[in-house]
Amino acid sequence: MITPVSKRVYIETYGCQMNLADSEVVGGILVKEGYSLTQDMSEADVVLVNTCAIRDNAEQRIHGRLGLFSRERRKRPELIVGVLGCMAERLRTRLVEETRVVDLVVGPDEYRKLPALIDLAAEGEQGIAVRLSRVENYEDIAPLRKKGVSAWLSVMRGCDKFCSFCVVPFTRGRERSRPLSGVVEEVRGLAAEGFREITLLGQNVNSYRDGDHDFADLMQQVARAERGVRIRFTTSHPQDMSDRLIEVIASEPNICEYIHLPVQSGSDRILSLMNRSYSIDHYLGLVEKIRQAIPSVSLSTDIISGFPTETEADHRETMDLLRTVGYDGAYTFKYSAREHTKAWEMRDTVREEEKGARVFEITTLQHEISARRNERLVGTDLDVLVEGPSRKRDDFLVGRTGTNRTVVFPNGNETAGETIAVRILRSNAATLFGENAAGRLAGGEAA
Ligand code: 5AD
Ligand code: SF4
Repeated sequence: MITPVSKRVYIETYGCQMNLADSEVVGGILVKEGYSLTQDMSEADVVLVNTCAIRDNAEQRIHGRLGLFSRERRKRPELIVGVLGCMAERLRTRLVEETRVVDLVVGPDEYRKLPALIDLAAEGEQGIAVRLSRVENYEDIAPLRKKGVSAWLSVMRGCDKFCSFCVVPFTRGRERSRPLSGVVEEVRGLAAEGFREITLLGQNVNSYRDGDHDFADLMQQVARAERGVRIRFTTSHPQDMSDRLIEVIASEPNICEYIHLPVQSGSDRILSLMNRSYSIDHYLGLVEKIRQAIPSVSLSTDIISGFPTETEADHRETMDLLRTVGYDGAYTFKYSAREHTKAWEMRDTVREEEKGARVFEITTLQHEISARRNERLVGTDLDVLVEGPSRKRDDFLVGRTGTNRTVVFPNGNETAGETIAVRILRSNAATLFGENAAGRLAGGEAA
């Protein structure tokens, strides 16, 4: 009998880091079943797109891609097209009915079924698997990662917070955590493979729980398991930012001094409508506690502009909050009404142009603040984990500080994965520029 050539799968990923990590899980599942992955869509037998449903514009972009896959399929009718992830979960059969290009629709908790569903699709049958699970965490699946400096490691899935604007609790289901011992073991394995930075991921990572162990315990054990590896985590909810977690971040030297702490709005009235469960006073108290414990900490946030009923006065409060906190970075989004959410039932009162204008004001202000905060670092030496060549110029390398700042410096043959001290010479809002501090001391005597 002739052994069939393995089917080649091309995976395209949109959305958050959880989706990037999930695509690696999907890769792991498929390769174990004899499939191979390709980076080239034109040679693929199966095209999978791992999707995001957080805002309407994310979905529109994916509809655009499906149009392209549809044209590709006209050339090659045997091509199998699958939609994975949050949009698959949200739209379900609608995707198959409306697009006429999709053979498979597979939600975030059903990836184990992919090999069987692809086989069925090859026989002309459409497959839909969108059940959410209370337990699935792909604990036994080895994600297929590209070798490199940084690895994603998802430690919990789902979200129980039900912020009134957010579709995630509906597309990713209930919160569930992986066992602590399994995570620690995987961290050891990743270090042995050469990874130098690991980001623990969860939609709500700091509500992680395994029996009596919480996220602070997990972080501490992970950090202690591999001192030579930098540990990061995302995304945190202010409600679950415990004193002990702050203390662990402050005291474990290889936990990065960077916290992404979405605030969403500077107005208590809007926060309450968003079901965010904290006030600005409480949030500012938290920021102060964090800064006291970790003076060099860098903080970033997410903001939504134009939530239903948001007034100019509410927007001013958000602007004030930005000035008060002095974030190192902020991601700002126009509110997008999502079906099934509580806010979907409220009228989308702020006009799109007004949302855009508010987003612009916020980003402009944050740009100034980030530039000022980066400027303070000029003249200092910072530890930088080297990532590789700069995208713009190959005689420069790029790396990141523990505070998650991008640093560009002349290529002196430093290797990716190495941590070096860089003397910062100049900066802008997004990047620091410098030179290897050791090379500088050597004064060019180095060979
Ligand atoms: N509209 C706009 N932004 C949203 N986010 C989540 N849901 C919505 C929505 N419906 C933003 C939040 C969250 C980030 C990942 O996306 O700021 O923190
Ligand atoms: Fe969405 Fe809120 Fe859960 Fe974050 S915490 S995923 S914004 S519901």
